[in-house]
Amino acid sequence: RTVAVVLAGGTGQRVGLSIPKQLLKIAGKPLIEHTLSVFEQAEDIDEVLVLMTPGYVPEVEKIVEKAGLTKVRRVLEGGASRNATTENAIAALSEGLADGEERYVLFHDAVRPLLSQRVIRECVAALERYQAVDVAIPSADTIIVTRRHGEDGEFITDVPDRSRLRRGQTPQAFRLSTIRRAYELAAKDPNFQATDDCSVVLRYLPDVPIHVVAGDEYNMKVTQPVDVFLADKLFQLASTAAPERSADEVYAEGLRGRTVVVFGG
Ligand code: CTP
Repeated sequence: RTVAVVLAGGTGQRVGLSIPKQLLKIAGKPLIEHTLSVFEQAEDIDEVLVLMTPGYVPEVEKIVEKAGLTKVRRVLEGGASRNATTENAIAALSEGLADGEERYVLFHDAVRPLLSQRVIRECVAALERYQAVDVAIPSADTIIVTRRHGEDGEFITDVPDRSRLRRGQTPQAFRLSTIRRAYELAAKDPNFQATDDCSVVLRYLPDVPIHVVAGDEYNMKVTQPVDVFLADKLFQLASTAAPERSADEVYAEGLRGRTVVVFGG
Protein backbone atom coordinates (compact mmCIF):
# COMPACT_ATOMS: atom_id res chain seq x y z
CA ARG A 1 0.00 0.00 0.00
CA THR A 2 1.07 3.53 -0.69
CA VAL A 3 0.24 6.20 1.87
CA ALA A 4 0.45 9.96 1.46
CA VAL A 5 1.31 11.65 4.74
CA VAL A 6 0.24 15.28 4.74
CA LEU A 7 2.36 17.23 7.24
CA ALA A 8 0.16 20.00 8.60
CA GLY A 9 1.37 20.29 12.18
CA GLY A 10 2.82 23.79 11.89
CA THR A 11 1.40 27.12 13.00
CA GLY A 12 2.61 29.34 10.14
CA GLN A 13 4.43 31.98 12.16
CA ARG A 14 5.91 33.62 9.07
CA VAL A 15 2.51 34.14 7.44
CA GLY A 16 1.55 35.52 10.82
CA LEU A 17 -2.22 34.97 11.12
CA SER A 18 -4.12 33.83 14.19
CA ILE A 19 -4.90 30.44 12.56
CA PRO A 20 -2.47 27.93 10.97
CA LYS A 21 -1.84 28.93 7.35
CA GLN A 22 -3.05 25.53 6.08
CA LEU A 23 -6.61 26.59 7.04
CA LEU A 24 -6.40 29.84 5.09
CA LYS A 25 -8.76 30.14 2.13
CA ILE A 26 -7.03 30.13 -1.24
CA ALA A 27 -9.13 30.29 -4.42
CA GLY A 28 -12.26 29.66 -2.35
CA LYS A 29 -11.11 26.58 -0.45
CA PRO A 30 -8.97 25.94 2.63
CA LEU A 31 -5.35 25.52 1.54
CA ILE A 32 -5.16 22.00 2.98
CA GLU A 33 -8.25 20.92 1.01
CA HIS A 34 -6.44 21.67 -2.26
CA THR A 35 -3.51 19.51 -1.14
CA LEU A 36 -5.71 16.64 0.05
CA SER A 37 -7.66 16.73 -3.24
CA VAL A 38 -4.45 16.18 -5.22
CA PHE A 39 -3.84 12.91 -3.35
CA GLU A 40 -7.51 11.96 -3.53
CA GLN A 41 -7.20 12.08 -7.33
CA ALA A 42 -3.88 10.22 -7.48
CA GLU A 43 -4.30 6.66 -8.77
CA ASP A 44 -1.13 5.49 -7.03
CA ILE A 45 -2.21 6.66 -3.57
CA ASP A 46 -4.30 4.24 -1.49
CA GLU A 47 -4.77 6.29 1.64
CA VAL A 48 -3.95 9.63 3.20
CA LEU A 49 -2.86 10.34 6.76
CA VAL A 50 -3.02 13.93 8.00
CA LEU A 51 -1.01 15.29 10.94
CA MET A 52 -2.54 18.57 12.05
CA THR A 53 -1.59 21.29 14.51
CA PRO A 54 -2.73 20.26 18.02
CA GLY A 55 -6.16 21.76 18.72
CA TYR A 56 -7.19 21.93 15.04
CA VAL A 57 -7.90 18.28 14.25
CA PRO A 58 -11.72 18.76 14.24
CA GLU A 59 -11.39 21.58 11.66
CA VAL A 60 -9.59 19.25 9.28
CA GLU A 61 -12.08 16.43 9.92
CA LYS A 62 -14.88 18.81 8.94
CA ILE A 63 -13.08 19.82 5.75
CA VAL A 64 -12.50 16.16 4.86
CA GLU A 65 -16.13 15.25 5.43
CA LYS A 66 -17.55 18.22 3.55
CA ALA A 67 -15.27 17.67 0.55
CA GLY A 68 -15.94 13.90 0.53
CA LEU A 69 -12.27 12.98 0.67
CA THR A 70 -12.57 9.19 1.07
CA LYS A 71 -8.84 8.39 1.08
CA VAL A 72 -8.24 10.35 4.29
CA ARG A 73 -8.48 7.67 6.96
CA ARG A 74 -7.10 9.47 9.97
CA VAL A 75 -6.33 12.97 11.17
CA LEU A 76 -3.84 12.90 14.04
CA GLU A 77 -1.94 15.58 15.93
CA GLY A 78 1.48 16.70 14.76
CA GLY A 79 4.54 17.19 16.97
CA ALA A 80 6.51 20.21 18.17
CA SER A 81 8.76 20.24 15.07
CA ARG A 82 8.31 19.04 11.50
CA ASN A 83 10.52 16.04 12.25
CA ALA A 84 8.51 15.22 15.38
CA THR A 85 5.39 15.29 13.18
CA THR A 86 7.06 12.84 10.77
CA GLU A 87 7.88 10.58 13.74
CA ASN A 88 4.21 10.60 14.82
CA ALA A 89 3.29 9.51 11.29
CA ILE A 90 5.88 6.72 11.23
CA ALA A 91 4.57 5.41 14.57
CA ALA A 92 0.96 5.49 13.36
CA LEU A 93 1.81 3.74 10.08
CA SER A 94 3.86 1.05 11.81
CA GLU A 95 0.96 -0.01 14.08
CA GLY A 96 -0.46 -3.40 13.24
CA LEU A 97 1.97 -4.01 10.40
CA ALA A 98 2.78 -7.71 9.89
CA ASP A 99 6.43 -8.81 10.13
CA GLY A 100 8.24 -7.91 6.93
CA GLU A 101 5.22 -6.03 5.56
CA GLU A 102 6.37 -2.98 3.62
CA ARG A 103 4.65 0.28 2.79
CA TYR A 104 5.47 3.14 0.49
CA VAL A 105 5.15 6.52 2.18
CA LEU A 106 5.13 9.99 0.61
CA PHE A 107 5.65 12.83 3.09
CA HIS A 108 4.24 16.07 1.72
CA ASP A 109 3.98 19.61 3.10
CA ALA A 110 0.31 20.51 3.54
CA VAL A 111 1.25 24.00 2.38
CA ARG A 112 2.31 22.90 -1.14
CA PRO A 113 -1.15 22.75 -2.73
CA LEU A 114 0.05 22.85 -6.35
CA LEU A 115 1.65 19.42 -6.43
CA SER A 116 1.27 17.71 -9.81
CA GLN A 117 0.09 14.16 -10.51
CA ARG A 118 3.26 13.68 -12.57
CA VAL A 119 5.50 14.15 -9.53
CA ILE A 120 3.41 11.73 -7.42
CA ARG A 121 3.59 9.11 -10.21
CA GLU A 122 7.34 9.49 -10.59
CA CYS A 123 7.95 9.26 -6.82
CA VAL A 124 5.92 6.06 -6.48
CA ALA A 125 7.58 4.54 -9.57
CA ALA A 126 11.04 5.39 -8.18
CA LEU A 127 10.24 3.55 -4.92
CA GLU A 128 10.11 0.29 -6.89
CA ARG A 129 13.84 0.71 -7.34
CA TYR A 130 15.03 3.01 -4.53
CA GLN A 131 14.39 3.15 -0.80
CA ALA A 132 14.42 6.95 -0.65
CA VAL A 133 13.35 9.62 -3.14
CA ASP A 134 13.50 13.41 -3.05
CA VAL A 135 11.89 16.02 -5.30
CA ALA A 136 13.92 19.07 -6.29
CA ILE A 137 14.28 21.85 -8.87
CA PRO A 138 17.28 23.84 -10.11
CA SER A 139 17.90 27.18 -8.47
CA ALA A 140 17.48 30.30 -10.57
CA ASP A 141 19.17 32.32 -7.84
CA THR A 142 22.84 32.03 -7.02
CA ILE A 143 23.14 30.44 -3.58
CA ILE A 144 25.78 31.84 -1.26
CA VAL A 145 27.07 30.53 2.05
CA THR A 146 27.59 33.12 4.76
CA ARG A 147 28.93 33.47 8.24
CA ARG A 148 27.88 36.06 10.78
CA HIS A 149 30.54 38.27 12.31
CA GLY A 150 28.85 39.78 15.32
CA GLU A 151 27.54 43.29 14.82
CA ASP A 152 29.19 43.65 11.39
CA GLY A 153 26.56 41.27 9.94
CA GLU A 154 27.00 38.49 7.39
CA PHE A 155 29.89 37.79 5.00
CA ILE A 156 30.25 35.32 2.13
CA THR A 157 32.35 32.24 2.83
CA ASP A 158 31.48 30.24 -0.31
CA VAL A 159 29.57 30.41 -3.60
CA PRO A 160 28.86 26.77 -4.57
CA ASP A 161 28.61 25.85 -8.26
CA ARG A 162 24.98 26.62 -9.09
CA SER A 163 24.70 23.86 -11.69
CA ARG A 164 24.87 21.25 -8.93
CA LEU A 165 22.53 22.99 -6.49
CA ARG A 166 18.86 22.10 -6.23
CA ARG A 167 15.99 23.46 -4.17
CA GLY A 168 14.34 20.66 -2.24
CA GLN A 169 10.57 20.39 -2.40
CA THR A 170 8.18 17.67 -1.27
CA PRO A 171 6.98 14.93 -1.50
CA GLN A 172 9.87 12.99 -0.07
CA ALA A 173 9.14 9.31 -0.57
CA PHE A 174 10.45 6.29 1.31
CA ARG A 175 9.94 2.66 2.02
CA LEU A 176 8.51 2.76 5.54
CA SER A 177 11.17 0.40 6.95
CA THR A 178 13.94 2.72 5.69
CA ILE A 179 12.62 5.98 7.11
CA ARG A 180 11.72 4.24 10.38
CA ARG A 181 15.30 2.93 10.70
CA ALA A 182 16.74 6.38 9.98
CA TYR A 183 14.59 8.00 12.68
CA GLU A 184 15.44 5.23 15.18
CA LEU A 185 19.13 6.08 14.71
CA ALA A 186 18.41 9.82 14.88
CA ALA A 187 16.62 9.31 18.21
CA LYS A 188 19.92 8.12 19.71
CA ASP A 189 21.79 11.23 18.54
CA PRO A 190 21.66 14.09 21.08
CA ASN A 191 22.70 16.54 18.32
CA PHE A 192 19.93 15.53 15.92
CA GLN A 193 18.68 18.47 13.91
CA ALA A 194 16.95 18.57 10.50
CA THR A 195 14.27 20.41 8.54
CA ASP A 196 13.34 17.62 6.14
CA ASP A 197 13.28 13.81 6.00
CA CYS A 198 15.80 12.97 3.25
CA SER A 199 18.57 14.56 5.29
CA VAL A 200 17.75 12.12 8.11
CA VAL A 201 18.34 9.18 5.72
CA LEU A 202 21.47 10.83 4.29
CA ARG A 203 22.94 11.34 7.74
CA TYR A 204 22.05 8.08 9.50
CA LEU A 205 21.88 5.64 6.56
CA PRO A 206 24.68 6.97 4.36
CA ASP A 207 24.73 3.84 2.19
CA VAL A 208 21.15 4.30 1.02
CA PRO A 209 21.07 6.15 -2.33
CA ILE A 210 18.47 8.92 -2.44
CA HIS A 211 17.08 9.28 -5.92
CA VAL A 212 16.00 12.75 -7.10
CA VAL A 213 12.83 13.32 -9.13
CA ALA A 214 12.39 16.63 -10.99
CA GLY A 215 9.92 18.87 -9.17
CA ASP A 216 7.91 21.78 -10.58
CA GLU A 217 8.57 25.48 -10.24
CA TYR A 218 4.91 26.03 -9.23
CA ASN A 219 5.04 23.37 -6.46
CA MET A 220 5.67 26.31 -4.15
CA LYS A 221 5.59 26.26 -0.36
CA VAL A 222 3.24 28.86 1.06
CA THR A 223 5.65 30.32 3.59
CA GLN A 224 5.47 34.14 3.53
CA PRO A 225 2.41 36.41 3.13
CA VAL A 226 3.33 37.08 -0.54
CA ASP A 227 3.04 33.34 -1.27
CA VAL A 228 -0.66 33.41 -0.38
CA PHE A 229 -1.27 35.88 -3.21
CA LEU A 230 0.92 33.94 -5.65
CA ALA A 231 -0.82 30.64 -4.91
CA ASP A 232 -4.22 32.30 -5.26
CA LYS A 233 -3.29 33.67 -8.67
CA LEU A 234 -1.91 30.32 -9.86
CA PHE A 235 -5.13 28.57 -8.86
CA GLN A 236 -7.19 31.20 -10.70
CA LEU A 237 -5.27 30.47 -13.90
CA ALA A 238 -5.52 26.71 -13.40
CA SER A 239 -9.26 26.80 -12.72
CA THR A 240 -10.03 28.34 -16.11
CA ALA A 241 -8.04 25.70 -18.01
CA ALA A 242 -9.25 22.45 -19.54
CA PRO A 243 -8.52 19.56 -17.13
CA GLU A 244 -6.31 17.66 -19.58
CA ARG A 245 -3.83 20.53 -19.88
CA SER A 246 -0.62 20.29 -17.92
CA ALA A 247 0.12 23.11 -15.48
CA ASP A 248 3.12 24.13 -17.61
CA GLU A 249 0.84 24.58 -20.63
CA VAL A 250 -1.73 26.46 -18.59
CA TYR A 251 0.76 28.97 -17.22
CA ALA A 252 2.43 29.42 -20.61
CA GLU A 253 -1.01 30.06 -22.11
CA GLY A 254 -1.68 32.65 -19.42
CA LEU A 255 1.18 34.64 -20.90
CA ARG A 256 -0.29 34.81 -24.38
CA GLY A 257 -1.96 38.02 -25.34
CA ARG A 258 0.23 40.02 -23.03
CA THR A 259 1.68 43.02 -24.78
CA VAL A 260 5.25 43.96 -24.29
CA VAL A 261 5.53 47.72 -24.42
CA VAL A 262 8.95 48.96 -25.42
CA PHE A 263 9.62 52.56 -24.54
CA GLY A 264 12.07 54.74 -26.39
CA GLY A 265 14.15 53.36 -29.25
N1 CTP B 1 4.94 21.14 9.96
C1 CTP B 1 4.48 20.07 10.72
N2 CTP B 1 4.75 20.03 12.06
C2 CTP B 1 5.45 21.01 12.66
C3 CTP B 1 5.95 22.10 11.88
C4 CTP B 1 5.68 22.14 10.53
O1 CTP B 1 3.84 19.17 10.17
N3 CTP B 1 5.64 20.96 13.96
C5 CTP B 1 4.54 21.24 8.54
C6 CTP B 1 3.81 22.54 8.22
O2 CTP B 1 2.44 22.46 8.62
C7 CTP B 1 4.00 22.68 6.74
C8 CTP B 1 5.34 21.98 6.50
O3 CTP B 1 5.66 21.27 7.69
O4 CTP B 1 2.99 22.04 5.99
C9 CTP B 1 6.44 22.97 6.12
O5 CTP B 1 6.78 23.79 7.22
P1 CTP B 1 6.73 25.37 7.29
O6 CTP B 1 6.36 25.97 5.99
O7 CTP B 1 7.97 25.82 7.96
O8 CTP B 1 5.44 25.56 8.22
P2 CTP B 1 5.28 26.25 9.63
O9 CTP B 1 6.16 25.61 10.63
O10 CTP B 1 3.81 26.22 9.89
O11 CTP B 1 5.71 27.75 9.29
P3 CTP B 1 6.56 28.78 10.20
O12 CTP B 1 7.95 28.21 10.26
O13 CTP B 1 6.46 30.08 9.46
O14 CTP B 1 5.89 28.82 11.54
